[in-house]
Order: sequence, then C-alpha cells, then structure tokens
Amino acid sequence: MAFAGFGRSQLSYDMFDLARSAAEAKRLAKCENIYHRGQELAWDGKDVLGELLARHGGVHVADAQRAALERVFTIILWGELAAWKISAQLADRLVPLEAKMAATSQAFDEARHFYVMHDYLTALGFKPGRLDRAPQALLDLVLETDDLAAKLMGMQLMIETIALALFQAVREREVEPVLTELLRYFERDEARHVGLGMQYLPSLLTGMSRREGVRLVTFQIRIMYWALTELRLVRSDFETLGIDPRRVIESVRKKQLAAIGAAYEAVGIPFDRDRNLAAMSLNGVVELMFPPVPAPLAARARTAWTAFWRRAQPGSLDVFAPHQHAIRTARGVVAPADG
Ligand SMILES: [Fe+2]
Ligand SMILES: [Fe+2]
Repeated sequence: MAFAGFGRSQLSYDMFDLARSAAEAKRLAKCENIYHRGQELAWDGKDVLGELLARHGGVHVADAQRAALERVFTIILWGELAAWKISAQLADRLVPLEAKMAATSQAFDEARHFYVMHDYLTALGFKPGRLDRAPQALLDLVLETDDLAAKLMGMQLMIETIALALFQAVREREVEPVLTELLRYFERDEARHVGLGMQYLPSLLTGMSRREGVRLVTFQIRIMYWALTELRLVRSDFETLGIDPRRVIESVRKKQLAAIGAAYEAVGIPFDRDRNLAAMSLNGVVELMFPPVPAPLAARARTAWTAFWRRAQPGSLDVFAPHQHAIRTARGVVAPADG
C-alpha cells in the first residue's frame, strides 16, 4: 500500500528493465502493432450504423426470427460489456508497455462494439434484459479471476473465438441486412483481440509450474462447460435462424485449437502435453450434448468416450482469414482485408 509517496506504488517503474528473449521481444512488437492497427482501423460506429440503416431503410427481420435474434444478441450485447471491462482490467494489470497498449486498444474497440450493438438493438425495437444463468456464469468467471493467464486465455482465446464463430454464422445466414454488414466490422476488430492472447499468453506460460498449468486447463474446462450449456440454451433460437449449433461448435473448436496451440507452441510446450484435457473434454461433451442425430443416452455416451480419446492437433491460423473484411475507417478510407 502506498502512503504519502512511500510504500509500493501502482506505477511499475521497472517496466523497461524486464529482461526479454528475442522471441518474446518479437511477440511484444506484434502486441504494439495491434495497438497501432487498432488506431488505423478504428471505425466510427455512429457513422457506419447510421449509413447502413439509411441504405437499407431500417432493420428488416422476419417476424418468425425476431425473438430468436433478440435472445442471441442479448448475450452478445452483455458479452461486449464484459469484454470492455476485462480488456480495461488487462490494460491496468499487464506490465509490459506493448501488451498494455494492445489491451488499451481493445478496450477502445469494445466500447464501440457495446454502444453500436445497443444502438442496433434499439433500432430493432428491443430492450435487452438480464442474462440467463449460463452466459452470466461464463462471463463472471473471466471478469472475476485475478489470474492474468486465465483472464487472457478466457477472454482473448476462448470468448473472442466463440464470438467470431457466432458472428460468422449469423453473417453467412444473412439473417438481417444491416447486421450482416455490421458484423464484418466487429469481426475485423475481434480477430485483432485474439492476436493479443496469442502474442502475450506465451509470456505468462513461461515459467508456469505444472500445477499452475493444470489449474489453467481446469479453468478452460469450466469456461467450456458454461459455453456449451449456454449454447444448449439457445439451440432452438439457432435453429430458428437457420444455424446448425454443431457447425458453430466445430468452427469454435478449430479457432481455439489454432490460437491456443500457437500460444503453447511459441514457448515450446507441446500442445498435446497431458493429452490436452480441455480439447479432449470438448470433443466428448459435444457428442453427449449435441449429437448429430437424436440418440439415446447410452449410444451418445459411447460416441462421447471415443471422441474423448481423439488426439488434439493445433490447427492452421488460416481459420481467422474469413474475418479480415474490408472496412470503412473513421479516417474516411476503405481499409482492404488483411492478406
Ligand atoms: Fe467486441
Ligand atoms: Fe473483442
């Protein structure tokens, strides 16, 4: 505690003295770049949403799909507020300058996502209420943890990848014209946020004891449990919107394996160490909760057991390419998609 200039200060005076390896310096340079790209690619939410509403003559959603869209995007709205708060926590707590800059830039993006999503839902004539228990439990886990590795893993590598998969699914189904275009802007930003997790989590994994590693995987499994429970909750809404929940799970799985695998491999931890319990559990639980065709419990349990033992391989980062859309920035220029 600090008092009258004595004691421990909140200012990290040693932030420039921290030793870093060449590989870590390279990753931190990428974090710094996330901040600068965030500034170059910042878009004006009022302007973009206003232009889309004018061009499409307001929002147009089929009556049969309205309630489903509202339920799913209530989760997204509060998820954006949680992302704003979590990135602000990280901006405060991460010490290296470059990582702090990237988290600060994310907080700026998430503020825009939150108000734009709120304005969009208002245009839809919808007033969002409280979240159900599962999505609330998921967001609370990440909001409340003091463990920075868990926070970064939970937010940047898990919640962001779920959001990306969901945005992509809704956009591809062209559920509502304004939303279809708006989501391209959101996806472009969220993909950058996954980048912060991939570049900085390795620094937190370095030197982690086996016990801390197991604790991190346990945290991953808890997030996954609530994410799948949430998905089960909105399953019929997904079906109403023409979205196959298993395809969304598969898309999330590929993104998470690629991003988390890259973070582990950056510091030489084989991704499949401990047979990657989080990936194994996901494979098993999906078969139990989301069978491709309705099946009795015993049959689902057998399939789940086989799926559990499937080896997890980190995938290619190409799975993030579909989120790199061309957007119109606040500087009035069209930024082409990243190659
Ligand atoms: Fe966001
Ligand atoms: Fe984000």
